[in-house]
Amino acid sequence: MRLCMRTRLGPLWQGRTRALGLALGTALLAGTASAGTPEQVTNIFKPLSTPAESISEVAWLTLAVCAGIFLIVGGLLVYTIIRFRRRAPDDGAEPPQIYGSNQLELAWTVLPILIVLVLVLVTARTIADVQSHPAPPDALHVTVVGHQWWWEIRYPALGLVTANELHVPVSTTTRRQLTFLRLESADVAHSFWVPQLAGKTDLIPNRVNRMWIEPKQVGTYLGNCAEYCGTQHARMLLRVIVHAPDDFTTWVAAQHQHGVAEAQVHAGRDVFFATSCVNCHTISGTAAQGKFGPDLTHLMSRDTLAAGAAPNTPATLRAWVRNPHTLKEGSLMPSMQLSDTELDQVVAYLLTLK
Ligand code: CUA
Repeated sequence: MRLCMRTRLGPLWQGRTRALGLALGTALLAGTASAGTPEQVTNIFKPLSTPAESISEVAWLTLAVCAGIFLIVGGLLVYTIIRFRRRAPDDGAEPPQIYGSNQLELAWTVLPILIVLVLVLVTARTIADVQSHPAPPDALHVTVVGHQWWWEIRYPALGLVTANELHVPVSTTTRRQLTFLRLESADVAHSFWVPQLAGKTDLIPNRVNRMWIEPKQVGTYLGNCAEYCGTQHARMLLRVIVHAPDDFTTWVAAQHQHGVAEAQVHAGRDVFFATSCVNCHTISGTAAQGKFGPDLTHLMSRDTLAAGAAPNTPATLRAWVRNPHTLKEGSLMPSMQLSDTELDQVVAYLLTLK
């Protein structure tokens, strides 16, 4: 689609709007990370996926048109203020008033209508192209369920469940690989937004929304819930990890492994299964099959805890289990009031869930 738009709009606007847009963009984006790498960038002007690229093209066109209008109007205003300022011999009387130039009236009515029409058409076409894109037969299908305040991520065809980190294969010129997301909510409205990959789409209770991404570069992309969903809306972070095709296969194989019950963490395992942890969490291959909280089968393969609230280290994990509310006020996970010994044991067990 990017190609189509370029041909349709011609190389003229490409060159000029890019230059104009860049000048404007530099002012707007001072302080953001360098181009090219997805790491730690949440920037709609550095797209690395087809839908985000299409949106970015429209954004640059709109910005360029608005910048042009701003410069013309602002320039005329400044010129008029200086050129026709009050000077020494003026008597302060009203200047002669001029009305009724049909040509002028027509020009400033028709021109804005044409500009708006062009922007509406380009935007509508981009939206239609993105939304009506059919899923190719080899597309990866993932279900994302928004919860207060974390993301449940399911791969129905692969039989995998994880949380807060969406792993997908990269799309290359030799092999395009699209990921289609089915978006649902378990409670209130959330919104899935990873700015470098696509526009935002809401997750609405009792409704299924869909979107797709086509990441073109390996790396970690950051996003966040983009619809206020309660106290910890700001700590509902998303990570999309884009793998080279072989690495994705390796990740899938690793996620299929059941946890191995290591003998030295037996005490911690007993604590876990004796408390209500099991009511909310699943650890595949065990009796823990709870569905309210994130699946913990491969907890230690994730970078963060509590949907990005803290890095996933033994120390933060211990603090989290001791009292989740110190890291995430209002979290639906209660403190289990474990003793220090029990805490050490259960954390030792959790650390084996790789
Ligand atoms: Cu979920 Cu905001």
